Amino acid sequence: MSMSQRLSTATPAPFTSRPLHPGFGIEVTDLDLSNPDSDAVVDALVTALDTHSLILVRGQTLSNARHVDISRRFGDLLTHVLKQFLTTGLPEIYVLSNVSEQGKPIGNHKEGWNWHSDLSYVAEPSMGSLLYSVEVPPEGADTLFASMHLAWESLPPATQTKIRNMTATHSYEGYYSRAFADRAPLTDEQKARTPDVVHPVVRTHPTTGRLSLYVGQDIVKQIDGLPAEESAALLAALNAHAISDAFTYRHKWQQGDLIIWDNRCTMHCATPYDDNRYRRVMHRTTVAGTRPF
Ligand code: OGA
Ligand code: MN
Repeated sequence: MSMSQRLSTATPAPFTSRPLHPGFGIEVTDLDLSNPDSDAVVDALVTALDTHSLILVRGQTLSNARHVDISRRFGDLLTHVLKQFLTTGLPEIYVLSNVSEQGKPIGNHKEGWNWHSDLSYVAEPSMGSLLYSVEVPPEGADTLFASMHLAWESLPPATQTKIRNMTATHSYEGYYSRAFADRAPLTDEQKARTPDVVHPVVRTHPTTGRLSLYVGQDIVKQIDGLPAEESAALLAALNAHAISDAFTYRHKWQQGDLIIWDNRCTMHCATPYDDNRYRRVMHRTTVAGTRPF
């Protein structure tokens, strides 16, 4: 069989794709998302995301407005608590960048330099994100993605039983003060918008019913009900398992790539680059989600 194939669903998918990893992720080819005629295909991508967890579309030229329009087909969009990085004129677009203009950063630098799922620190975390590369360095700055379905399904049954009903506390403030120790702390208003929250360690995909591990580094403060050391050791072991090569896909960005990922069943992590030499500008929209269960 060729690498490119029609997806076999009840109604044939109106796009061509190839797998990115044996267990999750597809690249959709032959698609021009700038054209509003592609809306029907975008709606098929919304469905495909439930199955594949990650969708890459390369070679796109998207206006900010079109990026937002496509994203809205996935659900309501969230605006980020760090308002200083909503610099495109459209509040739905959160900018990740090392670039400053007139002495002001146009985006959040070092966003996501740890394994996480977007907005896991709120009561109703994001269901998915759409990250579009505007300017990328020629080397470095890959993004790693892990399938948390594969991570859960490959755990030893005894571990599955042990953690099945555990919960964890996710904390934005704790993460922010560690990740961005060189910056001014969160304002009272930002803190008020991001109190600590408790989520299941094993969550159910609301549309497919498939289970996934729901952990992460830094933002996840503790596994609840365990002594601190035991919680830290278990969390580290689950994270190490989840991010092993077998369950991860490394994305090397080209300008014009759009990646849509399902935050309910994947984690991701940025990797460093020479930020003195190279510019990086990424635009993210963030789709609202529901309470994990
Ligand atoms: C994000 C994120 C990582 C990266 O956009 O949510 O974590 O490599 N990005 O930019
Ligand atoms: Mn992220």
